[in-house]
Amino acid sequence: MPLITRSPDTGVWLLTTPRTSYALRIDETGAPCHVAWGPRLTPGEADALAAPFAEPSNSFEGRPAVGEELPVDGGTRYGPPSLQVRYADGSRAFEWEPAGHRVDDSVPACEELVLEFRDRVVPLSVALHYRVRADTDVIERWTVLRNDGDERVDLLRADSAAWTLPPLADYRLSHVTGQWSAETRLHRERLPHGETVLTSRRGITSHHANPWTMLDDGTADEDRGRVWSTALAWSGSWRITVQRTPDGRAGLTGGVGHEGTRVPLAPGEEFTTPVAAGLFTDGGFGAASRAWHAYVRTHVLRHADETAPVLYNSWEATGFDVDEASQLALAERAARLGVELYVVDDGWFGARRSDRAGLGDWTPAPDRFPDGLRPLSDAVHRLGMRFGVWVEPEMVNPDSDLYRAHPDWVLHLPGRPRSELRNQLVLNFARQDVADWAFGWLTRLVAEHRVDFLKWDMNRVFGESGWPGQEDGNDRLWTRYVHHLYGVLDRLRAARPELRIETCSGGGGRVDLGILARTDQAWTSDNTDAVDRLGIQQGFSQVYPARVMSAWVTDVPNQLTRLSVPLSFRFHVAMAGLLGIGGDLTRWSEEELAEAAGLVARYKEIRHLVQHGDQYRIGDPYGDGTSAVQYAAPDGSEAVVLAFRAGPRHGSPRVPLRLRGLPPGVRFRDTATGAVHHATVLTEYGLDVGLPSGDWASALIHLERVPETTR
Ligand code: GLA
Repeated sequence: MPLITRSPDTGVWLLTTPRTSYALRIDETGAPCHVAWGPRLTPGEADALAAPFAEPSNSFEGRPAVGEELPVDGGTRYGPPSLQVRYADGSRAFEWEPAGHRVDDSVPACEELVLEFRDRVVPLSVALHYRVRADTDVIERWTVLRNDGDERVDLLRADSAAWTLPPLADYRLSHVTGQWSAETRLHRERLPHGETVLTSRRGITSHHANPWTMLDDGTADEDRGRVWSTALAWSGSWRITVQRTPDGRAGLTGGVGHEGTRVPLAPGEEFTTPVAAGLFTDGGFGAASRAWHAYVRTHVLRHADETAPVLYNSWEATGFDVDEASQLALAERAARLGVELYVVDDGWFGARRSDRAGLGDWTPAPDRFPDGLRPLSDAVHRLGMRFGVWVEPEMVNPDSDLYRAHPDWVLHLPGRPRSELRNQLVLNFARQDVADWAFGWLTRLVAEHRVDFLKWDMNRVFGESGWPGQEDGNDRLWTRYVHHLYGVLDRLRAARPELRIETCSGGGGRVDLGILARTDQAWTSDNTDAVDRLGIQQGFSQVYPARVMSAWVTDVPNQLTRLSVPLSFRFHVAMAGLLGIGGDLTRWSEEELAEAAGLVARYKEIRHLVQHGDQYRIGDPYGDGTSAVQYAAPDGSEAVVLAFRAGPRHGSPRVPLRLRGLPPGVRFRDTATGAVHHATVLTEYGLDVGLPSGDWASALIHLERVPETTR
């Protein structure tokens, strides 16, 4: 059955995913209108939901503020526009005139609907794109705008898509907020009437908000309930406006740029928005997350099928004090623990002895690496590990040869100060020469030093965002910067197909579907305190899979929080994602090294479940009871549970953990103790994890299905 059909009676387009339907039509005025998004519908059922166009009920209403596929600023519309156009004569308008449609089914199990329109007066084309696939409920949408005239057009707002919810009795918004070292704090809040804006004005995705939403009627939980979720594949400034109207409807619109920025379109120029992806599930927040995770692994990441290596990163151990001998000493210890990828962090290049100098001068520091990085890289390879380095290509310290040679390469506004953050300025990646320079040295670095892995960092937000000398530069830079960043990453990956890349922006400041399409994993947070990480990882996991969630075991007391928790607790938290180690191994005792080696080996036994399995969140990581994350093999053959009690209170109730995702009627064996459990008991009555009393207790339970014959 085709994934996209059109009703001959009503003209309703019906998009079909494995468990959901999405329907829209072009109404009597020519505007693309929403019909339905939710459980599966037949074409006839979708037709029945197509309400005829209704004139405004009185002279104070216009077109409904929720219910169009891309509400414009034009005619009698008063909601937040997804598309706001200003023409050369200063008028702001858009009138939908249908100009054709097509369905592209040339890719197996994937279909794309394109609806084409133009303005009735000015030669401006707008095409709405919808992509659906046979293996995911995620619908991808984007918009292409083209100026066919001979005068400039300004897109004051050019969102990727607007999403409409069915009328519900109430609305609740789930989203994350944060800050440096405290990313992805999950909120589930009643949606206020009016407009709620989630945004980044910082030039990056940001620590402060992340471009995704989940909406429900206030009754969904991890396991049950209808959830509508969206995510934007964009790594620069962005804005999502969620709206709750006086007449009880809700919807949202989202896209690139914050308020006040515009996308100029010169004659003949085209702008393609990033993808906005959306999904519906009736399985609660847990199912929404699992659907996102599967989508990211299958359709966003390029190498998700690979097993991610256990990595070591030197940052918390050596800071800027990096040289060949000390790195080698750490590498030898890391190899003994079973580490598979050794990453030298900041401090290996130029005059980089602190964060005050050297950024931009990407040659190994001669006093610390007299023969370059190659001797260390070779030694790491001889130890059986892959070799990675930290880079921050978008930045420059004013105290650097690069800045002395190219002071005009940074974002700046003539006559105004160049505000430094962390003593650095932002290189204007929107400039082709800057992007080409970065691609040049990165490819040479990777080739000459046999680099297998880059940690690509971005350690400050934009400021004095100007591009002098470029027409419309101050507006164009917001999108072109991101396009060039993507371009450098794409070119680099094409030139070095074996290279793997970690996205980092002072931790989780640039994690989104756009950057994940060009990288392989993400540094989740500079906060490596295992207890804080439980909450950060819970927020991260709402949309992004454990397959990309990089997590290190570091020293205690923690550098940031001064909290000391047991080594096994730190490991168990990091084992819920991509395990890494970031402590100063030269100071670990033989007992600690032995315990760590055992835990690394344990991780290797279960990481296929963490990295490729289905994730279930159990309990509240902020509570004082036991919380857990479970990863189950999709075929029901195995599961691993990582359980934590972060805030012990004497006398708190011992509530068994009800596991999820296990086929009923079969039995599972605990691979460590040999204990056999009925799946039905585990899921319906729960597992008493039996965490020891005392502070910060944790456990890893690996369950394997008992073959039928031995039952
Ligand atoms: C950022 C990263 C850290 C580390 C430092 C190095 O803060 O998030 O992990 O790489 O930069 O300066």
